[in-house]
Amino acid sequence: MVRETHVRADDFVFPMFVVPGRGVRDEISSMPGNYHLSLDQLGPEIERVIAARVPAVLLFGLPEHKDEVGSEAYAETGVVQQAVAEIKRLAPELCVITDVCLCEYTSHGHCGALDEKGEVLNDPTLKLLSRAAVSHARAGADIVAPSDMMDGRVAALRGGLDEAGFEQVAIMSYAVKYASAFYGPFREAADSAPQLGDRRGYQMDPPNVREALREAALDLEEGADFLMVKPALSYLDVIRTVADEFPLPLVAYNVSGEFAMVKAAAERGWIDERRVAMEILTSIKRAGADIILTYHALDAAAWLKEQD
Ligand code: PBG
Repeated sequence: MVRETHVRADDFVFPMFVVPGRGVRDEISSMPGNYHLSLDQLGPEIERVIAARVPAVLLFGLPEHKDEVGSEAYAETGVVQQAVAEIKRLAPELCVITDVCLCEYTSHGHCGALDEKGEVLNDPTLKLLSRAAVSHARAGADIVAPSDMMDGRVAALRGGLDEAGFEQVAIMSYAVKYASAFYGPFREAADSAPQLGDRRGYQMDPPNVREALREAALDLEEGADFLMVKPALSYLDVIRTVADEFPLPLVAYNVSGEFAMVKAAAERGWIDERRVAMEILTSIKRAGADIILTYHALDAAAWLKEQD
C-alpha cells in the first residue's frame, strides 16, 4: 500500500536481433536468453512476448552485406523491413519499434557515412537515416528510434516520414546517449564495433549532464515523441534530471553490458539474478523512467506474474 514505485510488464520493451537466412536461432553468447533469429524463427519468440504481456519489441538487423553507406539499412527488402512486416502479420497489436542507425550496416561500423579522412559526415547521413526510417514505416513500424546521435536527425526523420505520408509514426529519440563501455556485448550481437576510431565524436561524454539537457531540448523541439537516456544504471541521475525537465515519455535503455554483468555474476552463483534484476528495473523507474528497454523483459514479466 505504501510502495511508491511499481514495475509492470507494461513498462517493458524487448530488444530483438533479426538476421538473414533460414532456421537461425543462435544464442548470443554474451547475452544468454537472447538470440539471433531468422524471419522463419520469429513466430515462437513473438508468442513468448505476447504471453509475457510485454507491449513492444525493438528490432535490430544484421544485414547480408555491409557497405560504405550502409545501404541495407534502407533497402525495402532489408532484414528489418521484412521482420517488421512479419511481426505485424503475426501480431498486429504488438507495438513494433525499429532502431534507426547505420552502424550495423556500414563496412566501417560507424553510425554515419564517412569522408576520406574517416570523419563522420553529419548532414549527408541525415538523408540516409530518413530513408531508413521511411522504409521501416512502409513495412509497418509503429515507432522509429534513431540511435545514431547525428545532429538534426529527429527533424530529418519527421520531415521524411511526414512527406511520405507517415504522420502517425512516432519518433523515440535516443536523445541522451553516452559513449559508453557498456555497449560491448551489443556490438558483438550486432557486429557493429567501429573498425577504426570510436564513437566519441557523436556520442556524449559520460561526465556531462548539462549537455544531456541540451540534447533533449533539441530533440523535443525537432519533434521527438519520446526521449531516451542510455545506458540506464550509471546514469540514474541523468534520467531523473531529464524526467523532471521534459514533459515527454521517458525511456531508459538498460543496455547489454548491464544485462551481461547480472547474467555472469548470477551464473557464478555470486548474486541472485531475479532479485538483482528486479532491483535494477525498480531503480530505473524510481529515477523517473516511464519505459524500460531491457533484455530482461520476458523474464521479469514472468517473475512479476508469479508474484501476483
Ligand atoms: C546502435 C546502437 C547501439 C546500441 C543500441 N543501438 C550500440 C552503439 O551505439 O554502439 C547499444 C545497445 C546495448 O548495448 O544494449 N547505434
